[in-house]
Amino acid sequence: MTATSLHGVEIDGITKLYGDAVAIQDVSMTVSAGEFVTILGPSGCGKSTLLRMISGFAEPTSGDIRVGGKSVVGLPPYKRDTAMVFQDYALFPHRTVAENIAFGLRMRKVDKSEIARRVEEMLELINLKDFGKRRVSEISGGQAQRVALGRALVVRPAVLLLDEPLGALDMKLRKQMQAELKKIHRELGLTFIAVTHDQEEALTLSDRIAVMNAGCIEQFDAPEALYRRPVTRFVADFVGGANLIDAEVGPAGSLLINGKPLAEMPADIIGARPVGSAVSIVVRPEILSTSAVGENDLGVQAVVTEVLFSGPVQQIVGRLADGKTLVAHESALKPSLTRGETVTFSWNKTLSWLVDR
Ligand SMILES: Nc1ncnc2c1ncn2[C@@H]1O[C@H](COP(=O)(O)OP(=O)(O)OP(=O)(O)O)[C@@H](O)[C@H]1O
Ligand SMILES: [Mg+2]
Repeated sequence: MTATSLHGVEIDGITKLYGDAVAIQDVSMTVSAGEFVTILGPSGCGKSTLLRMISGFAEPTSGDIRVGGKSVVGLPPYKRDTAMVFQDYALFPHRTVAENIAFGLRMRKVDKSEIARRVEEMLELINLKDFGKRRVSEISGGQAQRVALGRALVVRPAVLLLDEPLGALDMKLRKQMQAELKKIHRELGLTFIAVTHDQEEALTLSDRIAVMNAGCIEQFDAPEALYRRPVTRFVADFVGGANLIDAEVGPAGSLLINGKPLAEMPADIIGARPVGSAVSIVVRPEILSTSAVGENDLGVQAVVTEVLFSGPVQQIVGRLADGKTLVAHESALKPSLTRGETVTFSWNKTLSWLVDR
């Protein structure tokens, strides 16, 4: 397929109200040309609303959206250089695969021989070469997903918008389609903005992820940065599943848990927080390990409530004095613990992180 001109997307102070309800609140983000960005967040946080405003199926209440440097607010979808793949695919079931893919080209009055050529080309790209004459009602879910993708790509948009593109597929097909999406993105070099509520999918696919919560973007960053240095408690919890241990900043770069000093934290992790700041320590399960009480005091004591084996890893669940739960992932080769035992959970402080409470 011929390369399209590259366009980035700038979202500049967008707010969207539905009556009195705020669906999007003063969101700004810049997506670079050729980037694969995912908008990740829980149901109802405003992901689809944001995507619909970029594609022209909804208009912002205030703020500006630029595609390739030009404002698109007020333009109809087909004049925006964007194309959208809808979650439910929105295909015409009684038309053939080829007719469905040709739809956008016919709307744009592209001439017949050119349409035929580009549809053929697209069928090849989406791996449905022999399916052109098949009706959409007679193909599988995964194939329909590829037809929806082909129908959007065939108009050669600069920006492809995907709303939960793999939401309706089973796990195995989902993994397979994730790999295909990534390959198509690499080969075509277009800008992709996808929406998902599946954090693993976002981490696998994206150059950068925008984590949304209640109409706001809490962090827009590379996957590793979101995982290692979440800026809010919500991001720490939503991306990757973290242990959040409540603490307070003590004197001289220490942390206090229930008034007891933990260990010194690296100064760059404490940052500029003053003594007395209420924080949560973000500890991923894979850096947490258990030891007998007294052996390693630089941790927290917890009662073991569960030991679960799952292949090479054993999951050890502990309960802290304040009732909160900790999960450690340790080698299954380590001698197992007994429920009810009190142990120390400790971790490499340089690999943990802090968020404000
Ligand atoms: N047309 C509409 N009229 C009124 N309210 C709407 C409309 N569309 C969406 N909303 C509201 O705006 C908020 C954001 O909706 P949106 O569809 O963007 O969420 P989402 O993040 O895509 O959620 P999901 O993951 O469930 O698809 C929700 O509270 C929703 O009820
Ligand atoms: Mg949605």
